[in-house]
Amino acid sequence: MKVLVIGGAGYIGSHVVKALLKSGHSVTVFDNLSSGLRQNLFKQNDFIHGDILNPAQLDASFASGFDAFIHLAAFKAAGESMIEPEKYSLNNISGTINILNAAIKNNCKKMVFSSSAAIFGEPQYLPIDEKHPKNPENFYGFTKLDIEHYLEWYDKLRNLKYVALRYFNAAGYDPDGEIFGLEQNPANLLPVVMETACGMRKEMSIFGNDYDTRDGTCIRDYVHVSDLADAHVKALEYISDKNESLTVNLGSETGISVTEMIETARRITGKEIPAKYVGRRLGDPACLYATSAYAREKLGWIPKYSDIDTLISSTWQAYQKN
Ligand code: UFG
Repeated sequence: MKVLVIGGAGYIGSHVVKALLKSGHSVTVFDNLSSGLRQNLFKQNDFIHGDILNPAQLDASFASGFDAFIHLAAFKAAGESMIEPEKYSLNNISGTINILNAAIKNNCKKMVFSSSAAIFGEPQYLPIDEKHPKNPENFYGFTKLDIEHYLEWYDKLRNLKYVALRYFNAAGYDPDGEIFGLEQNPANLLPVVMETACGMRKEMSIFGNDYDTRDGTCIRDYVHVSDLADAHVKALEYISDKNESLTVNLGSETGISVTEMIETARRITGKEIPAKYVGRRLGDPACLYATSAYAREKLGWIPKYSDIDTLISSTWQAYQKN
């Protein structure tokens, strides 16, 4: 298929592009490089330096004819979204509306969308399945949930067929070592652990050790970015075969605590990784993990790289290359 990957120069996007190319698809990346990196592009993909807030640019891009598109272009810092909601509504929501309208106008009606576990908010029960109540605790999560609703309506009214993939905690790097562009100023756990291991940070903070979990620190469902990428390829196949829309959770179904992540990183890197306990971070649920039974059933998706050792060693490999 001829696929337009919007946000394809980013952390997850670049892994998706690699998986698409490997499966024989032809790929054009559309990215404004605000957080995406030129070094994440592949020589086999075409590149449009464009912005989703520019409808004319989107229209011209879709006009060249694509069988499908993947939309990963979004701001994703939950904390920041509570301080600068305007930035998130403009880019994530208005930007998506621009994309949808340009796609429909140019008759491109197959889409894969990056949604997030952030749409669920505080868990009512575990593991989180697709039917779990949606009650985002931050504005970022709200933007993703809102877009899922747009997709339902564009399906009904314009016959858009989509797969919405709700990622749990994306982590890890390309195990082949081909993608190693690092995010700037990361706030997520594993990059922070790695920056501390490298000496880029003197010490890291563990946000809370008084949670009701096995070691007092928060538990999350980390899923390897190459496994997420594989789900995008399977999602495109699903839409082509079935011509119906689908929304699934993507997690490894394994909970890892903050302390377990740091201790395993110490073993794998051989570095000290100084860490101190500080107070809880606002809006952090104690425990969050998914069931991916539905993704398994509908997409045949089975994570291969989401064990803790591969998550950490592949990320460490990327940091060492830098
Ligand atoms: N943490 C620390 N110290 C740090 C960074 C994180 O202790 O320096 C802890 C957090 O408190 C949390 C855990 O590590 O308990 C994971 O935190 P992240 O910031 O890496 O990830 P979140 O679970 O907060 O959120 C991530 C993405 C969201 C997405 C969500 C889905 O950032 O965009 O996963 O589950 F919605």
